[in-house]
Amino acid sequence: KKIAILFSGTGSNLEKLLEFLYQTSFEHAKIEVALTICNRPDAQGIEKARRFGLEPLIIDHTRYASREAFDEALVEAIAQSGAELTVLAGFMRILTPIFTRHVKAINLHPSLLPLFKGGNAIQESFDSPMKVAGISVHYVSEELDGGDIIAQRCFTKYEGMSFEAFENKIHALEHELLPQTVKNLLDKK
Ligand code: GRF
Repeated sequence: KKIAILFSGTGSNLEKLLEFLYQTSFEHAKIEVALTICNRPDAQGIEKARRFGLEPLIIDHTRYASREAFDEALVEAIAQSGAELTVLAGFMRILTPIFTRHVKAINLHPSLLPLFKGGNAIQESFDSPMKVAGISVHYVSEELDGGDIIAQRCFTKYEGMSFEAFENKIHALEHELLPQTVKNLLDKK
């Protein structure tokens, strides 16, 4: 079972996913990371991937004239890799139908979807009057952060919780949920 992982920045979710795959299910479930792609040549996550012996393919979005042209490059690389599932682990680009129609992908989003879609989700859910917050893993569709939800985790926002504590909680939950969800999806096959 081959997967592709796409990331843009720090790569903490990429790292946790790779740790999980290598430590636990990797051999047993026969999951192979066929490809990692990063759209930023200076992303910290590149070093993290290298520690697992993976050399990310850099597809720099600034070198493409349009979102569509960038997406075509992604689609081609993923198709060539033979990956049956693509995991967006902190991949911070809006994708067009060129990508969403050709690639089966899941995305990690730091809110309880369908609430707080888009790039400012952590701040918006922190600022909201809601007493619960959480994270989601969902299928990637043409609507930004709008595909079918696969799994979610939530927590209680306590009185006086700082933004830093809130954000740390979100990331801690993400680091658990993404690997679990990838494994569950591939185990089902
Ligand atoms: C995560 O919060 C994820 O939900 C969002 O981008 C962040 C990526 O963090 N889409 P990292 O690069 O995995 O550390």
